[in-house]
Amino acid sequence: MSKNSGPTYRLINNFRHDSSFPLECIEFSLNYKPEDTDKFVVTYPKCGTTWTQQIICLILNDGMPTDYDKEFVWSSFIDYRGDECVKTLLKPRVIKTHLPFNLMPYNKKAQYLCVLRNPKDACVSYYYHNKGLPHYEFDGDFHEYFKYWIEGDVPNDDYFQHVLSFWSHRFDDNLTFLVYEHMKKNPKDAVLKIAEFLGEEFPIKLRENNDLLLNKVLENSTFESMKSKLNLGSGQDLHFLMRKGEVGDWRNHFNKAESDLVDEKVKQLFSGTGLENLWTEEMKW
Ligand code: A3P
Repeated sequence: MSKNSGPTYRLINNFRHDSSFPLECIEFSLNYKPEDTDKFVVTYPKCGTTWTQQIICLILNDGMPTDYDKEFVWSSFIDYRGDECVKTLLKPRVIKTHLPFNLMPYNKKAQYLCVLRNPKDACVSYYYHNKGLPHYEFDGDFHEYFKYWIEGDVPNDDYFQHVLSFWSHRFDDNLTFLVYEHMKKNPKDAVLKIAEFLGEEFPIKLRENNDLLLNKVLENSTFESMKSKLNLGSGQDLHFLMRKGEVGDWRNHFNKAESDLVDEKVKQLFSGTGLENLWTEEMKW
């Protein structure tokens, strides 16, 4: 384990893996060869993974939450569960990983769904996550955390490199993007896009009987509904998985210098890719 005074991580081949992932599971995820039917939800942490997974569960379960949904959040997580994930998931598997494009299990016939979120809110959300779980051994304030996060010196490594690793493949046939802020603004479009990712029959099913299934999925995937029904907090103290669910909470945490530093990184690294225009309003000081 590496320990500066930021959150702990496990450094392997220059990549900062999450310190809670068992070594054998990390190795399994780095070496897994996906089957053609496998589907992946690929995210930098705190960008809307659980929300997307819950929508997937609802689409596959007639729009109704089940006891399995909570377990799915963990059992589908290949970085954390390794071969158990592959063995236990029903096919077609929907696997979750936080690995960047160049390290994640790849098969050009498998399908990948990448969820993006603006860096400032992603950073704040990750701060609460890293502070909330004892194994990260981080007890500083947000400004201290920010110093590590902006350098990518945090578990699951650098936000900007992660996003760029996927965005540089944006024209690939097997890669679909969702944007957290668009999901918030237009959840219906997001659900239909996720349904399409699952298979061409699903958008049709959603729209049958006057959008019956679509409306159920929407109703059971709101922040409030997930927070109460998914009950992610029971057993472990995981309230930060469903913390606020807002766009712009960063304004309650960042100072101007920190905001400028992120803007500068966005300019430096995202310019000319289209990513620099994705969150113009959401990231304004
Ligand atoms: P906040 O910490 O800003 O509240 P992940 O699942 O990738 O870890 O992402 C967690 C973030 O997604 C948290 O952000 C969480 O509140 C938010 N989230 C989860 N479900 C959501 C929903 N149904 N609607 C909006 N945001 C949601």
